[in-house]
Amino acid sequence: MKALVLSGGSGTRLRPITHTLAKQLVPVGNKPVLFHGLEAIAAAGVTETGIVVGDTRAQIQAAVGDGSRFGLEVSYLWQREPLGLAHAVKIARDFLGDDDFVMYLGDNVVFDGITDFVERFRERRPAAQIMLAQVDDPRQFGVAEVSADGRVTGLQEKPRRPRSDLAVVGVYLFSSAIHKAVAEVEPSARGELEITDAVQWLIDHDLRAEAAVMTGCWKDTGNVPDMLEVNRLVLRSLEPSSAGVVRDSEINGQVVVEPGARVTGSVVVGPAVIGSGATVTNSRIGPYTSIAEDCSIADSWIRDSIVMPRASITGVRPLESSLIGQDVEITRTPEPPSAHRLVLGDRSRVQIAS
Ligand code: TTP
Repeated sequence: MKALVLSGGSGTRLRPITHTLAKQLVPVGNKPVLFHGLEAIAAAGVTETGIVVGDTRAQIQAAVGDGSRFGLEVSYLWQREPLGLAHAVKIARDFLGDDDFVMYLGDNVVFDGITDFVERFRERRPAAQIMLAQVDDPRQFGVAEVSADGRVTGLQEKPRRPRSDLAVVGVYLFSSAIHKAVAEVEPSARGELEITDAVQWLIDHDLRAEAAVMTGCWKDTGNVPDMLEVNRLVLRSLEPSSAGVVRDSEINGQVVVEPGARVTGSVVVGPAVIGSGATVTNSRIGPYTSIAEDCSIADSWIRDSIVMPRASITGVRPLESSLIGQDVEITRTPEPPSAHRLVLGDRSRVQIAS
Protein backbone atom coordinates (compact mmCIF):
# COMPACT_ATOMS: atom_id res chain seq x y z
CA MET A 1 0.00 0.00 0.00
CA LYS A 2 1.14 3.54 -0.80
CA ALA A 3 -0.01 6.96 0.39
CA LEU A 4 -0.95 9.95 -1.75
CA VAL A 5 -1.04 13.21 0.17
CA LEU A 6 -2.63 16.21 -1.55
CA SER A 7 -0.74 19.38 -0.73
CA GLY A 8 -1.28 21.48 -3.82
CA GLY A 9 -4.49 23.49 -4.31
CA SER A 10 -5.00 27.24 -4.27
CA GLY A 11 -6.09 27.85 -0.66
CA THR A 12 -8.25 30.81 -1.68
CA ARG A 13 -10.26 30.69 1.55
CA LEU A 14 -7.14 31.28 3.61
CA ARG A 15 -5.88 34.36 1.78
CA PRO A 16 -3.83 36.42 2.42
CA ILE A 17 -1.91 33.77 4.42
CA THR A 18 -1.79 31.52 1.35
CA HIS A 19 -0.34 34.26 -0.87
CA THR A 20 3.00 33.39 0.68
CA LEU A 21 2.55 30.16 2.65
CA ALA A 22 1.14 26.75 1.78
CA LYS A 23 -1.99 26.28 3.89
CA GLN A 24 -0.77 22.80 4.80
CA LEU A 25 2.19 24.45 6.54
CA VAL A 26 0.16 26.73 8.82
CA PRO A 27 1.20 25.68 12.33
CA VAL A 28 -1.45 24.35 14.73
CA GLY A 29 -0.04 23.86 18.22
CA ASN A 30 3.25 24.99 16.58
CA LYS A 31 3.30 22.03 14.18
CA PRO A 32 2.32 22.30 10.50
CA VAL A 33 -1.11 20.85 9.71
CA LEU A 34 0.50 18.55 7.13
CA PHE A 35 2.77 16.90 9.72
CA HIS A 36 -0.25 15.61 11.63
CA GLY A 37 -1.35 13.76 8.48
CA LEU A 38 2.13 12.40 7.72
CA GLU A 39 2.37 11.06 11.28
CA ALA A 40 -1.02 9.35 10.90
CA ILE A 41 0.12 7.70 7.65
CA ALA A 42 3.36 6.45 9.23
CA ALA A 43 1.42 5.16 12.27
CA ALA A 44 -0.82 3.16 9.90
CA GLY A 45 2.29 1.34 8.65
CA VAL A 46 2.39 2.96 5.20
CA THR A 47 5.84 4.12 4.10
CA GLU A 48 5.95 4.96 0.39
CA THR A 49 4.29 8.37 0.18
CA GLY A 50 3.77 10.65 -2.80
CA ILE A 51 3.03 14.27 -1.95
CA VAL A 52 1.16 16.17 -4.64
CA VAL A 53 2.47 19.73 -4.70
CA GLY A 54 1.61 22.86 -6.66
CA ASP A 55 2.92 26.42 -6.60
CA THR A 56 4.17 26.03 -3.03
CA ARG A 57 6.22 22.92 -3.81
CA ALA A 58 9.55 24.44 -2.69
CA GLN A 59 8.15 25.20 0.80
CA ILE A 60 6.58 21.78 1.22
CA GLN A 61 9.81 20.07 0.13
CA ALA A 62 11.89 22.22 2.46
CA ALA A 63 9.59 21.36 5.38
CA VAL A 64 9.16 17.62 4.79
CA GLY A 65 12.42 16.70 3.01
CA ASP A 66 12.81 12.99 2.25
CA GLY A 67 10.26 12.15 4.96
CA SER A 68 12.72 10.09 7.00
CA ARG A 69 11.98 12.00 10.17
CA PHE A 70 8.40 10.69 9.95
CA GLY A 71 9.60 7.20 9.01
CA LEU A 72 8.35 7.77 5.44
CA GLU A 73 9.93 7.61 1.98
CA VAL A 74 8.56 10.70 0.29
CA SER A 75 8.41 11.47 -3.44
CA TYR A 76 7.07 14.77 -4.78
CA LEU A 77 4.57 14.87 -7.62
CA TRP A 78 4.12 18.23 -9.28
CA GLN A 79 0.59 19.12 -10.27
CA ARG A 80 1.08 22.13 -12.52
CA GLU A 81 -2.44 23.44 -11.95
CA PRO A 82 -4.91 22.59 -9.18
CA LEU A 83 -7.40 20.89 -11.45
CA GLY A 84 -9.09 18.79 -8.79
CA LEU A 85 -8.61 15.86 -6.45
CA ALA A 86 -9.21 13.29 -9.20
CA HIS A 87 -6.70 15.16 -11.38
CA ALA A 88 -4.14 14.75 -8.58
CA VAL A 89 -4.71 10.97 -8.75
CA LYS A 90 -4.24 11.15 -12.52
CA ILE A 91 -0.86 12.85 -12.34
CA ALA A 92 0.26 10.35 -9.68
CA ARG A 93 -0.38 7.35 -11.97
CA ASP A 94 3.30 6.41 -12.46
CA PHE A 95 4.08 6.74 -8.76
CA LEU A 96 1.05 4.66 -7.70
CA GLY A 97 1.40 1.92 -10.32
CA ASP A 98 -1.26 -0.74 -9.60
CA ASP A 99 -0.87 -0.58 -5.82
CA ASP A 100 -3.67 0.11 -3.37
CA PHE A 101 -3.33 3.53 -1.81
CA VAL A 102 -4.64 5.80 0.89
CA MET A 103 -5.39 9.32 -0.36
CA TYR A 104 -5.11 11.94 2.37
CA LEU A 105 -5.97 15.62 1.96
CA GLY A 106 -2.97 17.48 3.38
CA ASP A 107 -5.10 20.18 5.02
CA ASN A 108 -7.18 17.69 7.05
CA VAL A 109 -6.51 16.46 10.57
CA VAL A 110 -8.00 13.16 11.80
CA PHE A 111 -7.44 13.17 15.55
CA ASP A 112 -7.61 9.42 16.16
CA GLY A 113 -5.42 8.62 13.15
CA ILE A 114 -6.27 6.38 10.20
CA THR A 115 -4.83 3.03 11.30
CA ASP A 116 -8.17 1.21 11.86
CA PHE A 117 -9.47 2.57 8.60
CA VAL A 118 -6.42 1.34 6.64
CA GLU A 119 -6.57 -2.08 8.31
CA ARG A 120 -10.22 -2.47 7.48
CA PHE A 121 -9.49 -1.80 3.81
CA ARG A 122 -6.62 -4.29 3.82
CA GLU A 123 -9.00 -6.99 5.13
CA ARG A 124 -11.92 -6.26 2.81
CA ARG A 125 -10.27 -4.93 -0.38
CA PRO A 126 -13.23 -3.08 -1.95
CA ALA A 127 -12.55 -0.85 -4.98
CA ALA A 128 -12.91 2.17 -2.70
CA GLN A 129 -13.44 2.84 0.98
CA ILE A 130 -14.64 6.31 1.92
CA MET A 131 -14.20 7.75 5.38
CA LEU A 132 -17.38 9.46 6.55
CA ALA A 133 -18.35 11.49 9.59
CA GLN A 134 -21.73 12.64 10.88
CA VAL A 135 -22.04 16.42 10.64
CA ASP A 136 -24.64 18.95 11.72
CA ASP A 137 -24.86 20.79 8.38
CA PRO A 138 -24.08 18.40 5.50
CA ARG A 139 -24.77 21.10 2.88
CA GLN A 140 -21.18 22.33 3.10
CA PHE A 141 -19.66 18.90 2.37
CA GLY A 142 -19.53 16.01 -0.03
CA VAL A 143 -22.37 13.82 1.26
CA ALA A 144 -22.68 10.01 0.99
CA GLU A 145 -25.74 7.83 0.83
CA VAL A 146 -25.05 4.51 2.49
CA SER A 147 -27.04 1.26 2.23
CA ALA A 148 -27.90 -0.92 5.22
CA ASP A 149 -24.97 -3.23 4.40
CA GLY A 150 -22.46 -0.35 4.47
CA ARG A 151 -22.05 0.33 0.77
CA VAL A 152 -21.84 3.85 -0.57
CA THR A 153 -24.68 4.03 -3.08
CA GLY A 154 -24.34 7.66 -4.12
CA LEU A 155 -22.41 10.88 -3.52
CA GLN A 156 -23.59 14.49 -3.70
CA GLU A 157 -21.22 17.48 -3.72
CA LYS A 158 -22.38 20.29 -1.36
CA PRO A 159 -26.08 19.41 -1.90
CA ARG A 160 -28.88 21.85 -1.19
CA ARG A 161 -31.03 18.92 -0.02
CA PRO A 162 -28.65 16.38 1.53
CA ARG A 163 -29.83 12.77 1.48
CA SER A 164 -27.88 11.93 4.66
CA ASP A 165 -25.82 13.61 7.39
CA LEU A 166 -22.68 11.65 6.46
CA ALA A 167 -19.95 13.95 5.15
CA VAL A 168 -16.97 12.73 3.17
CA VAL A 169 -13.85 13.17 5.31
CA GLY A 170 -10.56 13.88 3.49
CA VAL A 171 -9.28 10.30 3.60
CA TYR A 172 -10.02 7.69 0.93
CA LEU A 173 -8.68 4.22 0.18
CA PHE A 174 -8.55 2.99 -3.37
CA SER A 175 -7.58 -0.05 -5.36
CA SER A 176 -6.13 0.47 -8.84
CA ALA A 177 -9.73 0.46 -10.20
CA ILE A 178 -9.81 4.22 -9.46
CA HIS A 179 -7.42 4.95 -12.34
CA LYS A 180 -10.00 3.93 -14.94
CA ALA A 181 -12.57 6.08 -13.11
CA VAL A 182 -10.41 9.22 -13.03
CA ALA A 183 -9.64 8.73 -16.72
CA GLU A 184 -13.35 8.63 -17.54
CA VAL A 185 -14.77 11.56 -15.52
CA GLU A 186 -15.29 15.00 -17.07
CA PRO A 187 -14.53 18.33 -15.38
CA SER A 188 -17.36 19.59 -13.16
CA ALA A 189 -19.10 22.96 -13.36
CA ARG A 190 -16.23 24.51 -11.38
CA GLY A 191 -13.73 23.12 -13.91
CA GLU A 192 -12.21 20.45 -11.65
CA LEU A 193 -11.96 16.68 -11.91
CA GLU A 194 -13.92 15.68 -8.81
CA ILE A 195 -13.01 12.61 -6.78
CA THR A 196 -16.70 12.26 -5.84
CA ASP A 197 -17.49 11.85 -9.57
CA ALA A 198 -14.76 9.21 -9.86
CA VAL A 199 -16.21 7.28 -6.90
CA GLN A 200 -19.69 7.64 -8.40
CA TRP A 201 -18.25 6.17 -11.63
CA LEU A 202 -17.06 3.12 -9.67
CA ILE A 203 -20.52 2.72 -8.11
CA ASP A 204 -22.24 3.09 -11.49
CA HIS A 205 -19.98 0.33 -12.85
CA ASP A 206 -20.91 -2.08 -10.04
CA LEU A 207 -17.60 -1.77 -8.26
CA ARG A 208 -17.79 -1.88 -4.50
CA ALA A 209 -17.39 1.43 -2.61
CA GLU A 210 -17.67 0.91 1.13
CA ALA A 211 -18.38 3.41 3.86
CA ALA A 212 -16.31 3.62 7.02
CA VAL A 213 -18.01 5.93 9.47
CA MET A 214 -15.62 7.42 11.97
CA THR A 215 -16.59 8.29 15.50
CA GLY A 216 -13.57 10.43 16.42
CA CYS A 217 -12.88 14.03 15.59
CA TRP A 218 -11.87 15.25 12.16
CA LYS A 219 -11.37 18.75 10.76
CA ASP A 220 -10.63 20.36 7.44
CA THR A 221 -8.49 23.48 7.97
CA GLY A 222 -9.68 25.20 4.78
CA ASN A 223 -10.83 28.43 6.45
CA VAL A 224 -9.80 30.57 9.43
CA PRO A 225 -12.47 29.46 11.99
CA ASP A 226 -11.69 25.79 11.27
CA MET A 227 -7.94 26.40 11.47
CA LEU A 228 -8.43 28.01 14.91
CA GLU A 229 -10.64 25.10 15.97
CA VAL A 230 -7.92 22.60 14.98
CA ASN A 231 -5.41 24.71 16.89
CA ARG A 232 -7.61 24.46 19.99
CA LEU A 233 -7.98 20.69 19.62
CA VAL A 234 -4.25 20.14 19.08
CA LEU A 235 -3.32 22.38 22.02
CA ARG A 236 -5.68 20.41 24.25
CA SER A 237 -3.75 17.23 23.45
CA LEU A 238 -0.29 18.60 24.35
CA GLU A 239 1.59 17.46 27.44
CA PRO A 240 2.56 20.49 29.52
CA SER A 241 6.29 21.16 29.78
CA SER A 242 8.61 24.06 30.42
CA ALA A 243 12.04 24.05 28.86
CA GLY A 244 12.33 27.82 28.47
CA VAL A 245 13.06 30.63 30.92
CA VAL A 246 10.04 31.81 32.96
CA ARG A 247 10.51 34.83 35.29
CA ASP A 248 8.00 36.71 37.47
CA SER A 249 5.20 35.00 35.57
CA GLU A 250 2.22 32.77 36.20
CA ILE A 251 1.82 29.66 34.10
CA ASN A 252 -1.62 28.06 34.52
CA GLY A 253 -2.80 24.75 33.10
CA GLN A 254 -1.70 22.97 29.98
CA VAL A 255 1.18 25.11 28.72
CA VAL A 256 4.25 24.20 26.71
CA VAL A 257 7.16 26.61 26.91
CA GLU A 258 9.61 25.41 24.29
CA PRO A 259 13.39 25.51 24.77
CA GLY A 260 14.84 28.98 24.30
CA ALA A 261 11.52 30.78 24.92
CA ARG A 262 11.52 33.60 27.52
CA VAL A 263 8.41 34.55 29.45
CA THR A 264 8.74 37.58 31.75
CA GLY A 265 6.16 39.40 33.88
CA SER A 266 3.33 37.59 32.09
CA VAL A 267 0.39 35.26 32.63
CA VAL A 268 0.04 32.27 30.33
CA VAL A 269 -3.21 30.34 30.58
CA GLY A 270 -3.32 26.95 28.89
CA PRO A 271 -3.89 25.32 26.61
CA ALA A 272 -1.10 27.33 24.99
CA VAL A 273 2.35 26.96 23.50
CA ILE A 274 5.20 29.46 23.42
CA GLY A 275 7.70 28.61 20.66
CA SER A 276 11.46 28.37 20.90
CA GLY A 277 13.23 31.71 20.76
CA ALA A 278 9.98 33.62 21.39
CA THR A 279 9.86 36.37 24.01
CA VAL A 280 6.68 37.19 25.93
CA THR A 281 6.89 40.25 28.18
CA ASN A 282 4.21 41.88 30.38
CA SER A 283 1.51 40.04 28.49
CA ARG A 284 -1.43 37.67 28.93
CA ILE A 285 -1.41 34.69 26.59
CA GLY A 286 -4.16 32.11 26.20
CA PRO A 287 -6.17 30.13 26.48
CA TYR A 288 -5.99 28.34 23.12
CA THR A 289 -3.06 30.28 21.73
CA SER A 290 -0.02 29.17 19.76
CA ILE A 291 2.91 31.56 19.68
CA ALA A 292 5.43 30.26 17.13
CA GLU A 293 9.19 30.41 17.27
CA ASP A 294 11.04 33.72 17.43
CA CYS A 295 7.90 35.82 18.00
CA SER A 296 8.12 38.88 20.17
CA ILE A 297 5.04 39.69 22.26
CA ALA A 298 5.04 42.65 24.67
CA ASP A 299 2.33 44.46 26.66
CA SER A 300 -0.36 42.50 24.84
CA TRP A 301 -3.26 40.13 25.57
CA ILE A 302 -3.76 37.34 23.06
CA ARG A 303 -6.27 34.50 23.22
CA ASP A 304 -7.66 31.86 20.86
CA SER A 305 -5.15 32.70 18.15
CA ILE A 306 -2.29 31.41 16.03
CA VAL A 307 0.75 33.67 15.78
CA MET A 308 3.24 32.49 13.17
CA PRO A 309 7.04 32.67 13.30
CA ARG A 310 8.85 35.97 13.91
CA ALA A 311 5.66 38.03 14.31
CA SER A 312 6.00 40.98 16.66
CA ILE A 313 3.00 42.26 18.66
CA THR A 314 3.35 45.19 21.05
CA GLY A 315 0.72 47.02 23.11
CA VAL A 316 -2.31 45.30 21.59
CA ARG A 317 -5.06 44.25 23.99
CA PRO A 318 -7.04 42.24 23.65
CA LEU A 319 -6.44 40.29 20.45
CA GLU A 320 -8.56 37.20 19.83
CA SER A 321 -9.62 34.66 17.16
CA SER A 322 -6.75 35.83 14.96
CA LEU A 323 -4.39 34.21 12.49
CA ILE A 324 -1.23 36.29 12.34
CA GLY A 325 1.23 35.55 9.51
CA GLN A 326 5.00 35.23 9.56
CA ASP A 327 7.04 38.43 10.19
CA VAL A 328 3.88 40.48 10.78
CA GLU A 329 4.33 43.54 13.00
CA ILE A 330 1.47 44.97 15.07
CA THR A 331 2.08 47.94 17.37
CA ARG A 332 0.06 50.65 19.11
CA THR A 333 -0.21 54.07 17.54
CA PRO A 334 1.59 56.63 19.69
CA GLU A 335 -0.97 59.01 21.26
CA PRO A 336 -2.03 61.50 20.02
CA PRO A 337 -3.20 60.91 17.30
CA SER A 338 -5.18 57.81 18.17
CA ALA A 339 -5.98 56.60 14.71
CA HIS A 340 -5.45 53.17 13.20
CA ARG A 341 -2.50 52.94 10.81
CA LEU A 342 -2.44 49.92 8.57
CA VAL A 343 -0.14 48.50 5.93
CA LEU A 344 -2.07 45.45 4.73
CA GLY A 345 -1.34 43.07 1.89
CA ASP A 346 -3.93 42.14 -0.71
CA ARG A 347 -6.99 40.36 0.71
CA SER A 348 -6.08 41.01 4.33
CA ARG A 349 -9.00 41.01 6.75
CA VAL A 350 -8.98 43.26 9.83
CA GLN A 351 -11.69 43.89 12.44
CA ILE A 352 -11.17 47.04 14.48
CA ALA A 353 -12.66 47.03 17.96
CA SER A 354 -13.29 50.75 18.35
P1 TTP B 1 -9.43 22.14 -1.21
O1 TTP B 1 -9.39 22.73 0.15
O2 TTP B 1 -10.69 21.51 -1.63
O3 TTP B 1 -9.02 23.20 -2.31
P2 TTP B 1 -8.00 24.41 -2.29
O4 TTP B 1 -6.73 24.06 -1.58
O5 TTP B 1 -7.82 24.85 -3.70
O6 TTP B 1 -8.66 25.53 -1.35
P3 TTP B 1 -9.73 26.69 -1.65
O7 TTP B 1 -11.04 25.98 -1.86
O8 TTP B 1 -9.72 27.50 -0.36
O9 TTP B 1 -9.25 27.49 -2.82
O10 TTP B 1 -8.26 21.04 -1.32
C1 TTP B 1 -8.16 19.97 -0.40
C2 TTP B 1 -6.70 19.52 -0.34
O11 TTP B 1 -6.28 18.99 -1.60
C3 TTP B 1 -5.73 20.63 0.01
O12 TTP B 1 -4.68 20.09 0.80
C4 TTP B 1 -5.19 21.05 -1.33
C5 TTP B 1 -5.22 19.76 -2.14
N1 TTP B 1 -5.45 19.91 -3.58
C6 TTP B 1 -4.49 19.46 -4.48
O13 TTP B 1 -3.42 18.99 -4.08
N2 TTP B 1 -4.75 19.58 -5.82
C7 TTP B 1 -5.91 20.09 -6.30
O14 TTP B 1 -6.10 20.15 -7.53
C8 TTP B 1 -6.89 20.55 -5.36
C9 TTP B 1 -8.19 21.15 -5.83
C10 TTP B 1 -6.62 20.45 -4.01
